[in-house]
Amino acid sequence: MMKKTIRVAVIGCGYWGKNYVRLLAQLPGSKLVAICDQSQKHLREASKFAPGVKKYREIEELFAHAPSFDAAIVATNPGSHYSITRRLLEMDKHVLVEKPITTSSAEADELVLLAQNRNLILMVGHIFLFNSGIEEIKSYIDSGTLGKIYYLYARRTNLGPVRQDVNAAWDLAPHDIAIFNHLLGNVPEWVSAVGANFLREGKVDASFIVLGYPDGKLGNIHVSWADPHKVREVVVIGSEQRVVFNDTVPQQKVTIYKKGIAASSLPYLSYADYQQIALRDGDIISPCLNIKEPLRSQVTHFLECIQDGHHPLSDGLSGLQVVKILEAVDASMKLQGAPVKINWTPYQMHTNGRTEITLQQTFAETR
Ligand SMILES: NC(=O)c1ccc[n+]([C@@H]2O[C@H](COP(=O)([O-])OP(=O)(O)OC[C@H]3O[C@@H](n4cnc5c(N)ncnc54)[C@H](O)[C@@H]3O)[C@@H](O)[C@H]2O)c1
Repeated sequence: MMKKTIRVAVIGCGYWGKNYVRLLAQLPGSKLVAICDQSQKHLREASKFAPGVKKYREIEELFAHAPSFDAAIVATNPGSHYSITRRLLEMDKHVLVEKPITTSSAEADELVLLAQNRNLILMVGHIFLFNSGIEEIKSYIDSGTLGKIYYLYARRTNLGPVRQDVNAAWDLAPHDIAIFNHLLGNVPEWVSAVGANFLREGKVDASFIVLGYPDGKLGNIHVSWADPHKVREVVVIGSEQRVVFNDTVPQQKVTIYKKGIAASSLPYLSYADYQQIALRDGDIISPCLNIKEPLRSQVTHFLECIQDGHHPLSDGLSGLQVVKILEAVDASMKLQGAPVKINWTPYQMHTNGRTEITLQQTFAETR
């Protein structure tokens, strides 16, 4: 059966949004019908990828032409995600919004519920869930190849780009939080974080974050706009294997180290216990991956979810979870690293491992 062509508008055509314009101008199953940006310069640059497409500088003008599109991609600055996405959902448009979904969990909660009530696709640009390296690591974890997962750590550093409306944690850590939640199939119970600003007053530009997941699993994330060395790395330590994801080496994104420490079953380590720890050496393998452009896979997934009525992998709820965690990061940073518990009680854990929103009212009351 022929699938319906999805007519898409892209809102926000800056550094990142123009990539969506480029892709949508070529992707089968969709038709790019409009692009919108307040900046004439960004609009002009983006339109080079899609000559002839309708251009809007005023978002209200685009909204006035709402019948011309079925779905929208929001790639504006984070502070505007909520109001733009809400308007789009109220107009019955499916939305793919960039990370972070909003700048508060109350706003994210509202959007998730709005999309649910209107039976619309709400997806968040957690792009690493569509990266073949992360997909590969997820398959190792789910099949038990890595053994028992002990902890994960991630580094995401570079010189800027420094954002105006969010700090470095809100800009960079959504990627790693989304990766950790996805890989572990769970959300953290508590957060401890410290941060500082070295580049300018007011907004944290480097942060060290610890996430405490159920069963004692730990996640550690270092993000920075102040480090001239660009690192994009996620490491998973399991009882059987250690696996490294390095997004800056395209030909060797994933490396598996079949080398582990088999811990003794005794709860406390004395010197005698220590001697019971067996160190093992093993192979180092870099699997050949089917490398594809993650953004293309993400957009294709969005279109397929609309066409086939599937639930998105990076749904609005996953975006809300990331924002709840970022709020805890901010709270802990204010307390100079004191652990902050996250209240997930408004959500119920379902047997399939996903957390589903159930009680919006309860959430509002407990906030
Ligand atoms: N997934 C990724 O790897 C990735 C990478 C970079 C940025 N991002 C995300 O993409 C979003 C945009 O980031 P960017 O780097 O492109 O920023 P940017 O500043 O380069 O672009 C944002 C654009 O949005 C436009 N804009 C803002 N408010 C608007 C409004 N109300 N109406 C119309 N246009 C409006 C601005 O004029 C600007 O051109 C952010 O949420 C960011 O976190 C994601």
